[in-house]
Amino acid sequence: MSLKMKKAPIPHNERERLNALLEYKVLDTAPELLYDDLTHLASSICQTPIALVSLIDSERQWFKSHHGLDATETPRDISFCGHAIHGRDVFVVEDSFKDLRFADNPLVTGAPVVRFYAGAPLINLNGLALGTLCVIDHNPRTLSSDQLKALESLARQVVTQLELRKANLLLKSKFEELQNATKQLGESQALLIQSAKMASLGELSAGIAHEINNPLAIISGNAGLLTKFLDNPEKLASKVETIKKSCDRISRIVQGLRKFSRSGDKSNFQDHELCDIIKETAILTAAKSNRHSTPVTFDFKSHSHVFCDEVEIEQVLVNLINNAIDAVKDRSEKWVKVALFDDTNSVVIRVTDSGPGIPESVRNKLFDPFFTTKKVGEGTGLGLSITKGILDEHKATITVVTDSPNTCFEIRFPRAEEMKNAA
Ligand SMILES: Nc1ncnc2c1ncn2[C@@H]1O[C@H](COP(=O)(O)OP(=O)(O)OP(=O)(O)O)[C@@H](O)[C@H]1O
Ligand SMILES: [Mg+2]
Repeated sequence: MSLKMKKAPIPHNERERLNALLEYKVLDTAPELLYDDLTHLASSICQTPIALVSLIDSERQWFKSHHGLDATETPRDISFCGHAIHGRDVFVVEDSFKDLRFADNPLVTGAPVVRFYAGAPLINLNGLALGTLCVIDHNPRTLSSDQLKALESLARQVVTQLELRKANLLLKSKFEELQNATKQLGESQALLIQSAKMASLGELSAGIAHEINNPLAIISGNAGLLTKFLDNPEKLASKVETIKKSCDRISRIVQGLRKFSRSGDKSNFQDHELCDIIKETAILTAAKSNRHSTPVTFDFKSHSHVFCDEVEIEQVLVNLINNAIDAVKDRSEKWVKVALFDDTNSVVIRVTDSGPGIPESVRNKLFDPFFTTKKVGEGTGLGLSITKGILDEHKATITVVTDSPNTCFEIRFPRAEEMKNAA
C-alpha cells in the first residue's frame, strides 16, 4: 500500500547543515543529564508525555535525549522533525489525524502514535538547523503562547549545550596539540643541548690540539737544528730561546686548562678593599698601556670590601684591561676607563674602552674556551673563559653591557658580608 503522507523534504543547504552537525561529535553518544533535564522540563511545561532532543542525520533522526519514549532513532523520511527544521518558528501539528501530510505516517498509525507534535528548531550560531526540541502527545491538543515561548527558550538552551560541547572539544584538541608540541620541544631541546655539548667538547679538544701543536712543531723543528749550530753559539742561543718561548706557551695553556678543573679551593679568600686590588692591577697593565699609547684611567667611587682571592681578581682585571687595549689598537680614539662603584646589593667594576661594542653573534661565544679573534700566537682565547670561571667561584657575574655606546664589561661582586655567609 502506497502512503499519501508527505516525506520530510531535504533542506537546500543540507550538506552544510550535516557538516555542521558532525562537528559537534554528538551523534551516538551516551545520554547526558543536562539534555535529559531539558526534555524533562519541556514535557512538564507543555504537559506532554513525550519530549525529545532530536538531531537530523542524513538518513535518520537520532535522539540525544528521549523522555517518555524508548526508541533512540527513527527513519528521517517519516520524521516530524524533518519538517520542523525548515522553519525558524515552532512547527505545530495539533491533530495529525486531520493533517494529510501525516495522517497515514507509520509513527501516527502505529507506535508511538504521534497525534500532537510541536518542535522548536535547534538553530546553531551559523543559522543552521541541527534538529529540534519537540514535545509529543497521543491526543490532539494545542500549546499556549507561554508554553510555545518556553519550548523555544529550552531549544536555545539545547543549542548552547551543543556549542559548549564543541568549544570544549576544540579546547581539548588544542590542549593536546599544545602538549604534543611542548613534548616535542622538550625532546628537541634535549637533543640540541646534547649536540651542543658534543660540539663544544669537540671544539675544546680541537682547540687544545691546535694550540699545543703549533708550539710543539716549533720545538721539534728547532730541536732538530740544534746539533747543526753547535759551533755557532749565537744561533744556538736564539734556537734555544725560541724553544723556551714555545715551552712557556704550552705551559700557559696547560696552566689555563688546569683552572677549568679547579676544585673550588677557597683557601686564599680574604677580605679585601676592591679598590686596592684595582690599583695593583694598574701597575701590571701600565707598560702595555704606554706601549700602545692607550691611556687607562681609574675612577674609584667605592671603598667596599669583597671576600676574594686577590691574585685571581688581579688576573681577571689584567685580562679585561689587556683585551680592551688590544681591541682599540687600530682605532683613532684610544682609551680605557675602569670604574668602581656601589650598587644596591653589589660592588660593580666596569671596564669600558673606546671600541664600538661587541656584536651579538660574537657576544654569545666570548666566554667559550679558545674563542679568539686574535692572530695565532697573540691570544689563547682562554682569558675570558677563565675569567668567568674565577668569577663564578666568587659568586660574581660578568656581562657585556649592551646599552653603552662603547664596549663595556661589567663585573658584579656580592659584598664581603654576604660572601662570607655563603662561603
Ligand atoms: N674589549 C673587547 N672589545 C672587543 N672584543 C673583545 C674585547 N674583549 C674580548 N674581546 C673578544 O673576545 C675574544 C676572547 O677574549 P679572551 O680574553 O677570552 O681571549 P684572547 O684575549 O683572545 O686571548 P687570551 O686572553 O687568552 O690571551 C677576543 O679575542 C676578542 O675577540
Ligand atoms: Mg684576553
